Amino acid sequence: MIQLDGVTKVFSRGERALPVLRGITLQVPKGVFLSIMGPSGSGKSTLINLIAGLDVPTEGQIIIDGKPTETLSDDAWTTLRGTKIGIVFQFFNLLPTLSVIENVALPLQLQGINGPEVTQRAKAWLQEVELHHRGAHYPHELSGGEQQRAAVARAMVHEPDILLADEPTGNLDTTRGREIVDLMRALTKKSGQTVVMVTHSHEAAAMADRTVTMIDGRLSS
Ligand SMILES: Nc1ncnc2c1ncn2[C@@H]1O[C@H](COP(=O)(O)OP(=O)(O)O)[C@@H](O)[C@H]1O
Ligand SMILES: [Mg+2]
Repeated sequence: MIQLDGVTKVFSRGERALPVLRGITLQVPKGVFLSIMGPSGSGKSTLINLIAGLDVPTEGQIIIDGKPTETLSDDAWTTLRGTKIGIVFQFFNLLPTLSVIENVALPLQLQGINGPEVTQRAKAWLQEVELHHRGAHYPHELSGGEQQRAAVARAMVHEPDILLADEPTGNLDTTRGREIVDLMRALTKKSGQTVVMVTHSHEAAAMADRTVTMIDGRLSS
């Protein structure tokens, strides 16, 4: 369960304060796939970054599985992200110098897991996204759709409770985009994960359980 309670975010631009999130209250129950739509610049990525602990709210609370995150240290956030949260980005963000299977294995290694288990789990996830034959390739040798499938495997390999996705279809054609959202939905429904996906695509949003719209730092449903 993800809970946001009166969350605001104000950036400073030179001397001026730039309010980007203006009081977000939101609950995403466990197992629900939520999509967030809304115009560019309305604050969607900022919201995802706050839920991921990549940035902190100016005011308000983010509560994950009943635990307020406000008092977490950077280290505690890193552990939380490493164990409970997976993230998929618009530009795939695979590391270019690592093979596909090494990219998928990385979240496990960052948790200190080593040995044959790592390769086994990475392989199993490559199988889930139908890339088992591409493990030894490098990201640039894959199509956009394949890179995003690898990124989904990487986001899921540590079996997080929460999957966040920031415009995961933004760099893909309609068919490939539909495949990615289908895949995210199938994989997360199988294990009851909670999903928050930002998207510009009405088609992608329609595959979610629930859609909210962000306009100028506020949510409406
Ligand atoms: N780190 C930052 N510092 C200053 N302004 C930022 C920062 N991140 C985002 N913004 C501003 O916040 C607003 C919302 O950005 P963002 O959350 O990326 O919107 P969206 O993802 O909906 O397009 C934009 O005006 C953007 O320029
Ligand atoms: Mg954005």
